[in-house]
Amino acid sequence: MSKKVKGFSKWSKKGKIEWLAQNHFVHPEKAIETFTSYWHADPSVQKRHDEFIENTVSNYFLPLGVAPNFSINDKMYTLPMAIEESSVVAAAAKSAQFWLHRGGFKAHVLSNTKIGHIHFLFYGDGAKLERYSDRIQTEMRKDTERLTANMEARGGGILSIQLVDKTEHLADYYQWEVRFDTRDSMGANFINSCLEQMSKSMKRIVEASSEFTAEEKGLDVVMCILSNYTPECLVRAEVRCRIEELEDKNGIDPQEFARKFHQAVRIAEIEPYRATTHNKGIMNGVDAVILATGNDFRAVEAACHTYASRNGQYSSLTHCTLEDGYFTFWIEIPLSLGVVGGLTQLHPLVKLSLEMLGNPNAQELMCIVASSGLAQNFAALRALTTTGIQKGHMKMHLFNILNQLEATDEEKDHFTAFFADKVPHHADVVAAFCERRGIPVPLVGALKKGNS
Ligand code: MEV
Repeated sequence: MSKKVKGFSKWSKKGKIEWLAQNHFVHPEKAIETFTSYWHADPSVQKRHDEFIENTVSNYFLPLGVAPNFSINDKMYTLPMAIEESSVVAAAAKSAQFWLHRGGFKAHVLSNTKIGHIHFLFYGDGAKLERYSDRIQTEMRKDTERLTANMEARGGGILSIQLVDKTEHLADYYQWEVRFDTRDSMGANFINSCLEQMSKSMKRIVEASSEFTAEEKGLDVVMCILSNYTPECLVRAEVRCRIEELEDKNGIDPQEFARKFHQAVRIAEIEPYRATTHNKGIMNGVDAVILATGNDFRAVEAACHTYASRNGQYSSLTHCTLEDGYFTFWIEIPLSLGVVGGLTQLHPLVKLSLEMLGNPNAQELMCIVASSGLAQNFAALRALTTTGIQKGHMKMHLFNILNQLEATDEEKDHFTAFFADKVPHHADVVAAFCERRGIPVPLVGALKKGNS
């Protein structure tokens, strides 16, 4: 059980780690050794990582893999992918290779607008507020000039400001809904700063006007915040080929494959249980590139799942048609991404990831990420509707078990060959491993188990 602690955030890093080790671990020295062994060798790099968040004690490693051979809008990319789940990078690379010879991925940004709100309560005559709306907006724009100057110089800024009456849904509730173009930045700080400033403009105008009653002047700004739901920041990526071209070296019947694949997508369109897993697979590809490029995967996850429910029932983010002899498979998702600001200039691997992608602008990155999601979904559905998903997963699963058993490289080679035509159930791998080493097979649970 953890103990209460006072003023923790002010303690030194060493003090925090010692307190943590002494109060949480059976072997405090070992815990300290593990925390510190993951520090970067260069103290200045470590300091930078420490300062990303609060109370940092160590670094949490995730593998950064790469998926080559992505042809997106006729340009070749190698995708950086930061993810802990085995098979995701391999699946992306396989899909990329498959579509490389069938026209590649075609993607385009449908819209690039971000939205923020001032949520406020107005106790009075909404029509009066409406009459003052233009005047308030003019002041809002004037008061945010200092904040928007740089963004405007880059071609972005505030696109529109609109008063929305929400009193039908919640008593006294109104919004200012503000649309922004934040160019190559995700824009959260910019949007929130503008909104906070604008809320002050509104209050000032209302308070100064003799038209409003004392009660109306007492309007309450509840909060000023961007919305992570970005249905107007939308990208579409597509793959398309003649159905006969779906034939591959495994001798798959293209018509049969297309039919089953199409059905799998239809199922995800109408069945939320399946849609959730289907979309989870898409997010494997989306999040991995988002993390590698220093973007906010929680924001994108939230937006995508809201978008998936926009018609009242959670549904697939990808769609498929079989028409006029063509297989067309596409994704349409909201992606609010940035290539400047945030971690993009601070995290050395984020910088490298962006360089690996040819330093794309935000819209290009949207196309890349959407293609990664589509590629991932294609690979998952292809496996699910043909060989089954376990075949590919189990190969990596075997590796995870062997790593848990601290197998040598020679042993890994041996068991990879041994299990090539078998399903590597956890117990079978442990038994075979122990037999080869000539050691007794431990009782169930004596060896740490992964998912089997
Ligand atoms: C596993 O991470 C993702 C899949 O379950 C996706 C899917 O079922 O479509 C394979």
